[in-house]
Amino acid sequence: MRTIKDPKEMQAYSLKMKGQGKTIGFVPTMGYLHEGHLSLVAAAKTKADIVVVSIFVNPTQFGPEEDFRSYPRDLKHDKKLLNDFAVDILFFPSAARMYPKGSQSFVDPGGLAEKMCGLSRPNHFRGVDTIVSKLFNIVQPNLAFFGEKDYQQQLIIRKMAEELNFPTKVISLPTIREFDGLAMSSRNKYLLPEQRKQAAILYQVLRLAKKEIKGGEKNSRRLLSRLRRLMASAPSLKLDYLVIVDPETLEETKTIKGKTLIALAAYIGKTRLIDNLVVETK
Ligand code: PAF
Repeated sequence: MRTIKDPKEMQAYSLKMKGQGKTIGFVPTMGYLHEGHLSLVAAAKTKADIVVVSIFVNPTQFGPEEDFRSYPRDLKHDKKLLNDFAVDILFFPSAARMYPKGSQSFVDPGGLAEKMCGLSRPNHFRGVDTIVSKLFNIVQPNLAFFGEKDYQQQLIIRKMAEELNFPTKVISLPTIREFDGLAMSSRNKYLLPEQRKQAAILYQVLRLAKKEIKGGEKNSRRLLSRLRRLMASAPSLKLDYLVIVDPETLEETKTIKGKTLIALAAYIGKTRLIDNLVVETK
């Protein structure tokens, strides 16, 4: 695996490969890789000639009170995992290279970014759309892979890629879960043993929602209050949001029918965890 740090060198490499008729599959990450990331890498390996993984903890998507500085980093371990997957290129730029002094251009993600996670993380998706569009311009991928755990993120990125005419197909893949259903996340590392135990309730809430909807529940308000009651059985959890929404518009659904997204975010101590499930009914 070759490591490239310079955006210009990365772009030149990609253009050369594409000139030779090769397709590029891209997995953007912030590192501290887990099985969720590796499932994206595995998919990229089956669908593209060249696989590029980026590791960049993007400062512009963190709020001033958030965990940018303490975000877990372990480059040595990440490199070993990516080597084992025979990834072609690790793109590992510095913040100074990605945001040279005086940088002032941003991508505005629009109204989808003002819902759900956007309410408690006001500039988060602006930072995400900005860095992803920069990475797309640098890496020039034919295909880019994202996890459905970050449902709102993949929706916003998909729209951004379409609306800004990127020649990149955005592919979203299922959430990878721990033994008790907790969605894999680099932030799970922050959880103390008792918090980790209680975090399993998040997936139980989503499973209950699915069971009730499949069992015929159509009333969102009634279902939400049942889900909140289950959530309250884990006293360490402080709910940020729990919503039943349309999976494309993220508008709240009063009467459940067709494809429905149940999404939540909760704090356990200082750690903020998110999860979601799409349920389909007739
Ligand atoms: O999901 C992530 O790890 C990040 O938000 C991403 C897409 C790599 C952009 O920094």
